[in-house]
Amino acid sequence: MDDNLAVNGGAKAITLEQEEALRWPRLTEEDEQAVVELMRKNEISVSEEPEKLEKEFAQFLGAEYALAETNGTAALHAALFVLGIKEGDEVICPSYTYWATAMPAVILGAKVVFCEVDPKTLNMDPEDFRKRITSRTKAVIPVHLWGLPCEMDEIIAVARKNNIAVIEDACHAHGAEYRGKKVGTLGDFGFYSFQASKNLPGGEGGMLITNNEEYYFQAVTLGHYRRAAGLPERYSKYQHTSFGFKHRMSPLHAAITRVQLKTLEEKNKIRNANIEKLLKALESLPGFEIHRPPSYIKRVYYENDVVYRGEKTKVPIDRLIEMLKAEGALVRRDRYPLLHQQPYFVERGSNPEDLPVTREINEHIIALPTFPGDDGRLVEQYIEAFRKVAKAF
Ligand SMILES: Cc1ncc(COP(=O)(O)O)c(C=O)c1O
Repeated sequence: MDDNLAVNGGAKAITLEQEEALRWPRLTEEDEQAVVELMRKNEISVSEEPEKLEKEFAQFLGAEYALAETNGTAALHAALFVLGIKEGDEVICPSYTYWATAMPAVILGAKVVFCEVDPKTLNMDPEDFRKRITSRTKAVIPVHLWGLPCEMDEIIAVARKNNIAVIEDACHAHGAEYRGKKVGTLGDFGFYSFQASKNLPGGEGGMLITNNEEYYFQAVTLGHYRRAAGLPERYSKYQHTSFGFKHRMSPLHAAITRVQLKTLEEKNKIRNANIEKLLKALESLPGFEIHRPPSYIKRVYYENDVVYRGEKTKVPIDRLIEMLKAEGALVRRDRYPLLHQQPYFVERGSNPEDLPVTREINEHIIALPTFPGDDGRLVEQYIEAFRKVAKAF
């Protein structure tokens, strides 16, 4: 027995106070002032603030059109609505994602078909996506999971060949790029979330992205009834009813998102620098499989999930987590339950035994902090904790 280990009563490797280094979102007086200003102007509902955010975010992404929406889920709903997704259609997405990637297609009556992830990247496997296409497949939703861009060239090539629309779920990937282009601008649509935990936090809110003018007009008509008045007649005639949904983003959240956008890249850099340091150290420890994306992919980190194989070290993942926690590390198992195993989908015919690759890799993922406010000292202590624990393997 190794008495040095904190789990056996030894001193902890991590002694620094962590709350400030891990605090997110990082709001300042500028965010407060932006909100207060709108309150003083009495613009807590109707305001130009969301449209200002649209312009700034579209410019940041290099996109033609950006439409501010209630949240990311609503933005995806708008994309599927515009594409005319309906009963009898199929939409493909990974099972390893947040539920919001799948549910809007379900409400429109479509069947969601789940596909495998690549165990190295944890992103949609383009080959498995291809295999699950049928004559009913109308759309695919690749998710740039945890901030790592998907292999978009392959996904788009398969989709184009089969006349399938591509909707990028970029909710984890503000600032990430694929071959020099921001994610969310590569497919027919992209969508983002500004929920408080995201790299670009506004509290709540979302953005629909497209380079297609007609798609944009149709999305405005779906849920922004006042704005439809300014569109060509074929859309403005619906201005007094819209298509029955209200998708307007709250101006107060738009104001916070605008302030946060100014420092998004700077904040992404802090996460990247700290996490890269940690991953470099983990690479040389047994059991850890660290993925290095190719040079044409610029990733960001929404979360910091790594693959650990206890079968190689003879220390099971739950024991590793217990040992690391005892050292003071805030680590846990991955937090997404696989969607194809959820009662909602199982009751509708999904086989929980499907997707063996996704199921296998899901048992091997641990989530580590992203160190958004760390000056580098806390991450050094985490590295020490991992090295200390790995010595006992
Ligand atoms: C992968 C993914 N897709 C979609 C969404 C939906 O975004 P929102 O919470 O803004 O509706 C989220 C939000 O957490 C997400 O993580």
